[in-house]
Amino acid sequence: MTLESSAQPNRKTNTLDDFWMPFTANRQFKAKPRLLESAEGMYYTADDGRKILDGTAGLWCCNAGHGRREITEAVSQQIAKLDFAPTFQMGHPLPFELATRLAEIAPPGLNKLFFTNSGSESADTALKIALAYQRAIGQGTRTRLIGRELGYHGVGFGGISVGGMVNNRKAFPLQLPGVDHLPHTLDIQRNAFNKGLPEFGIEKADELERLVSLHGAENIAAVMVEPMAGSAGVVLPPVGYLQRLREITRKHGILLIFDEVITGFGRVGKAFAAQRWGVTPDIMTCAKGLTNGAIPMGAVFVDENIHQAFMQGPDGIELFHGYTYSGHPVACAAALATLNIYTRDKLFERAIELEGYWQDALHSLQDLPNVIDIRAIGLVGAVQLAPNQQGVGKRGYQVFEQCFQNDLMVRVTGDTIAMSPPLIVEKPQIDTLVEKLADSIRQAQ
Ligand SMILES: Cc1ncc(COP(=O)(O)O)c(C=O)c1O
Repeated sequence: MTLESSAQPNRKTNTLDDFWMPFTANRQFKAKPRLLESAEGMYYTADDGRKILDGTAGLWCCNAGHGRREITEAVSQQIAKLDFAPTFQMGHPLPFELATRLAEIAPPGLNKLFFTNSGSESADTALKIALAYQRAIGQGTRTRLIGRELGYHGVGFGGISVGGMVNNRKAFPLQLPGVDHLPHTLDIQRNAFNKGLPEFGIEKADELERLVSLHGAENIAAVMVEPMAGSAGVVLPPVGYLQRLREITRKHGILLIFDEVITGFGRVGKAFAAQRWGVTPDIMTCAKGLTNGAIPMGAVFVDENIHQAFMQGPDGIELFHGYTYSGHPVACAAALATLNIYTRDKLFERAIELEGYWQDALHSLQDLPNVIDIRAIGLVGAVQLAPNQQGVGKRGYQVFEQCFQNDLMVRVTGDTIAMSPPLIVEKPQIDTLVEKLADSIRQAQ
């Protein structure tokens, strides 16, 4: 096949052919598209005019709901005032202001901010900072990284190496060397239908001691985990697990990185999961809810002592890393407006207030056919189904499609249906969500 670059006389315009969709079964989608045209509050409007209840805050991003006027206005005013300014050896006020605002809501000590444009970039930035820090303090043999099975840290080479989702790794064999994985914490046999954090599984953190014995602490730079694994299907940390990881990492001088791209900005009832579960990492990533999804942006929170280690020695660039759009003025404006809404409307607190109602609502699905586990915390939850005869993921996909037919948007990963509604959700909308999901589960083969 040849590529025809200029004259393409027979090309149709406005077909679905040319957009290679990310993480999508392209042929399946294009044969039966699901197109969203606008959004307001808790609802999308599809191209056929149907109102679709947003059970997933877009893609875990729109925590304040859709179409927030304050964000739209901040973005349009900012783009008119200063569309772009570099942050390499130059500056403009907004990322400084945003960094201060973020430091105010961060866990203690995590008050230095590096800006990125996505969760993947945040993950890779965090890993690079960890490696560079170990060198900066004279611990240059600490080069190994440890992630966890089922972890998702985006799609950069760092993220897929440390991440533990097999389909995201197996086609890309050239990954970072020197990476190990802790076991995941999904244990349906022992924890099925448990409400809140799973009772069993703290000992899975002790695997870190085994890896330390295997490699020597002096060779390990950092451990990166999601405090709650979102993309793998809402896998919650067992009681005491994160604390145990913190103890072991601290004991051995290993940095602990929390990837809070999903859990950040109220999803589990505090600004960050670190605060909800009382465990402060050394480095923490975020993205998504930072701008309510309106403009791409991510950030890495770095402990002030780590940052300080770079601010030594002769003057000069301390970290050879950054993105053209780090601290982009329009993204910063969106983030500042988003933070104002979160604070004014007390949206993080809402996720705690509604947690009990949300859990009861999801757990009411326990007796439906093929439901093998239900997990819920804050305003995030998952219903896991047994695979059907056709193979893993087929039943889950049927439910996902049926939900969309029923005017509900959910996420599917394998046979797990994941939900994370905007934090503005009202109780009757939770009821509707659960009814539509129940109906879809009943119809699935
Ligand atoms: C925990 C986590 N880290 C990183 C990412 C990657 O973010 P992005 O898609 O913005 O690159 C995601 C995306 O879902 C995520 O859930």
